[in-house]
Amino acid sequence: MKKIVILISGKGSNLRAILNAQRLRGGLSEISQVISNRPNAQGILVAREFGAPLTVLDHASFSSRTQFDEALMALIDSYQPDLVLLAGFMRLLSDQFVDHFMGKLMNIHPSLLPSFPGLKTHQQALSTGVKWHGATVHFVTREMDVGPIIAQGIVPVCANDTEDDLARRVLEIEHIIYPQAIEWFLKDQLLLENGIVRVSPEQSQYFYHDQCCI
Ligand code: GRF
Repeated sequence: MKKIVILISGKGSNLRAILNAQRLRGGLSEISQVISNRPNAQGILVAREFGAPLTVLDHASFSSRTQFDEALMALIDSYQPDLVLLAGFMRLLSDQFVDHFMGKLMNIHPSLLPSFPGLKTHQQALSTGVKWHGATVHFVTREMDVGPIIAQGIVPVCANDTEDDLARRVLEIEHIIYPQAIEWFLKDQLLLENGIVRVSPEQSQYFYHDQCCI
């Protein structure tokens, strides 16, 4: 059974989707630890609700980014995970950290990368007038929001959308693509070649939100 460590900082809706999927799949994986870098993250309640083992490693109690990264790395290593998931984990990670977990570190980002890396992606989508927006699951590499793309979910941008409307729609598709990408990984179905990820046997790596604007 493959071992998973999940890092969170916020609401934990992706954590919930992952834990739900893990429950349904059963047998494929075990959650070794959920780690929150914020002591009051709502996601902590989600981990508790599912009975998932949880550690709070408060970044604010470390005097430097490097010290926090080293402690986090050592904590994760103590579980010897096969897969480390960033699920709304709002900390930049050092090159050393990323190199250490390369190939087994996944992230979900709320945009169709390479559009809109970084923060405020829904605001950027609205202000640039794109008609499609979405989310991307990717392997993490040194450069932020750039690593090999595993799956993308596409949502329409409707004329009167607010940032909240868009965020809600994007989250719905996140909750589909992240568990799917994880399942592929757990079943050894992901092939990475020259920075391109394929699924074997071949499957669609894009997903549509079924809402229409008009
Ligand atoms: C999601 O939009 C995710 O893509 C981004 O942060 C948000 C986390 O939401 N990285 P949640 O904590 O999973 O609800």
